[in-house]
Amino acid sequence: MRTQVAIIGAGPAGLLLAHLLHRGGVDAVVIETRSQEYVAARIRAGILESSSVDLLTSAGLGDRIRREGHEHRGIYLQTPDGRHHLDFVDLTGRSVWVYGQTEVQKDLVAAGTAQVFYGAASVALHSLSSRPFVTFTDSSGSDQRLDADVIAGCDGSFGPSRSFFDSSVERVYPYSWLGILADVAPSTDELIYAWHPDGFALHSMRSDTVSRLYLQVPNGTDPAGWSDDRIWSALATRLGDGQDGWKLTPGPITDKSVLPMRSYVQTPMRRGRLFVAGDAAHIVPPTGAKGLNLAIADVALLSRALVALLVEGDSRRADSYSDDALRRVWRCTHFSWWMTTMLHASGDPFDEQLQLSQLRWVTSSAAGAAGLAENYAGLPIGF
Ligand code: FAD
Ligand code: DHB
Repeated sequence: MRTQVAIIGAGPAGLLLAHLLHRGGVDAVVIETRSQEYVAARIRAGILESSSVDLLTSAGLGDRIRREGHEHRGIYLQTPDGRHHLDFVDLTGRSVWVYGQTEVQKDLVAAGTAQVFYGAASVALHSLSSRPFVTFTDSSGSDQRLDADVIAGCDGSFGPSRSFFDSSVERVYPYSWLGILADVAPSTDELIYAWHPDGFALHSMRSDTVSRLYLQVPNGTDPAGWSDDRIWSALATRLGDGQDGWKLTPGPITDKSVLPMRSYVQTPMRRGRLFVAGDAAHIVPPTGAKGLNLAIADVALLSRALVALLVEGDSRRADSYSDDALRRVWRCTHFSWWMTTMLHASGDPFDEQLQLSQLRWVTSSAAGAAGLAENYAGLPIGF
């Protein structure tokens, strides 16, 4: 088999890349180890920056976001001084959208532009410096070889692409998130990020009837040790139930999982004819909701670079892809680290005072608030 771009991984990065390449007149084939149902059901990110929504809209994928997504003007920051609203639209002119990664994934599948081999096994990348090809066993057990001009590694943090890069930097954080999905209307109109001496809490949502909430927990926490009552009680305490008449409404929990947190950046984002995008190249801790948005921004740059390379024979964007993408990657890596370290309890009294001072600045100074808003609502693609 032959294609122009062999894409490893059918997560949002891989499927969006296939879609954008198709629109640019470039053939692509996607190889994915999991089943289509498994990929579609994975519960992950929930917030899209305005630049991600603009990109998806310009790619013909914006209709359902605008119909079923919820546009938010900003977020609440909860501190010991009370709850403060940061209005991103006033501060930066840009909003964010609540629209789950599962929905983005469904829209990409419904677009039908990607040819995907789901359920592949033994996926291996070869000959990256000149005539690259991928070998794998397809879901019916037949061995396949896919020759391509370029391989795009969109295979997340555990895929094979990462083994071709040996230069990376990493930070592991001393806490994790216990995340729940609950069949209950959100108790807030916009997300609440709460600093609390017991640990961070976040009230997010997926729709008018489904809430998504997170609690800071120690690394190695077993979700089985957290009963539903214990979770709702900790969330109520940390999110300020009872303060200024606000109430957290509990409901049936339908999913419970623990997420470890780390930052990771691999450089460069290209080796020979292998280009990497999304979680295959970098991981951010979830605070600030950058992971999915960063994957979308990488793919916007990479699709343009590959269309220029393979349709027009112009290699300039491909040659600068890694540097161009890494500028935004490091901005988001810093922002996610900053939000994480500002909001999570570390047990160190010096850290605690710095956090409270920083939060006071962000919630009382227009300049401080604008800095957070500009990063959260998202810098333009190509920043
Ligand atoms: P992925 O979505 O990981 O897709 C990679 C794909 O490659 C997968 O489908 C995988 O099965 C496939 N693959 C792996 N190995 C192979 C192989 N050998 N061959 C072929 N295919 C392979 N971000 C946020 O912004 N907010 C959140 O709340 C949030 N929550 C998260 C929760 C979890 C548990 C995780 C893991 C991530 C979360 N993220 C969150 C991050 C966000 O979901 C990712 O940044 C986003 O999924 C990146 O997309 P991707 O396509 O690069 O990688
Ligand atoms: C969600 C996750 C985040 O990390 C975040 O900062 C905001 C929202 C979510 O899953 O809804």
